Amino acid sequence: MWLQIVVKSSRALLAILTLCFAVGCSPLNFSSKWSTSGQKGDIKKGVSKEVMMQVPLTKEEVKEPVREIERIDKNKILRPKGSRLYVGHRGSLLSQGEQLFEEPSLSSNGLSCATCHINAEGFMPSFAKPYPHHVEMAEMFAGVKSIALDEMIQLCLSRPMATRPLDWGSEKLAAITAYVEDVVRKEYLEKMANSPDINWDEIERANAAKEKKTGKERNTKSLWGR
Ligand code: HEC
Repeated sequence: MWLQIVVKSSRALLAILTLCFAVGCSPLNFSSKWSTSGQKGDIKKGVSKEVMMQVPLTKEEVKEPVREIERIDKNKILRPKGSRLYVGHRGSLLSQGEQLFEEPSLSSNGLSCATCHINAEGFMPSFAKPYPHHVEMAEMFAGVKSIALDEMIQLCLSRPMATRPLDWGSEKLAAITAYVEDVVRKEYLEKMANSPDINWDEIERANAAKEKKTGKERNTKSLWGR
């Protein structure tokens, strides 16, 4: 029980620190940093573990920003009823998605998705679960308890990348979603295949439940949504 709480809170902490160090800010002035557009071009790809380990903050300091975080309106990142993801040729969505994933101009602060997620880095074990599922960052920033993949992308755009979410029916959102689902997530699952951080039995049960509910098989491009 205590162990679970410690593991949970240390994951939340890691998420905040990853975000903060990627944009070169201290969690203490978190909210003001996120709302301004930062410097372009001086952010290197990938957030090294070494950087994350050099955390000069006390426990009390780290608690502060969690309370002070400027929350985002969950309606901006949850798919509006009746809207649908753009449907296009999977191959061309994937190649467009690959380019967009590395595109800093998608953000207002020079960050691209790849800045944080190159080589399937920067994800928590929740990423292995079928969507929708609970993501710490979504609950922390938007009070959302369960989030779909396209919505998660809108969240990373809104918060760490400090920009407006994409249009829900846009080809761009569909392209990034397809690329993350087919390439990045696959890379993550392969990388974590032997990791004790992931409870594979739980994932297996969740996949089976999702298949039963939707009538669709896993890995058929259909597990990203609600
Ligand atoms: C500044 C760093 C940063 C950038 C830039 C960023 N993200 Fe993230 N992203 C994170 C962090 C940290 C998490 C882990 C959050 C958690 O699990 O609580 C995350 C989680 C995710 C997840 C997985 C959530 C889950 O567990 O299901 C997806 C998918 C994702 N990001 C996609 C993207 C995409 C696509 C982009 C570009 C549009 C992007 N991110 C840009 C930091 C970033």
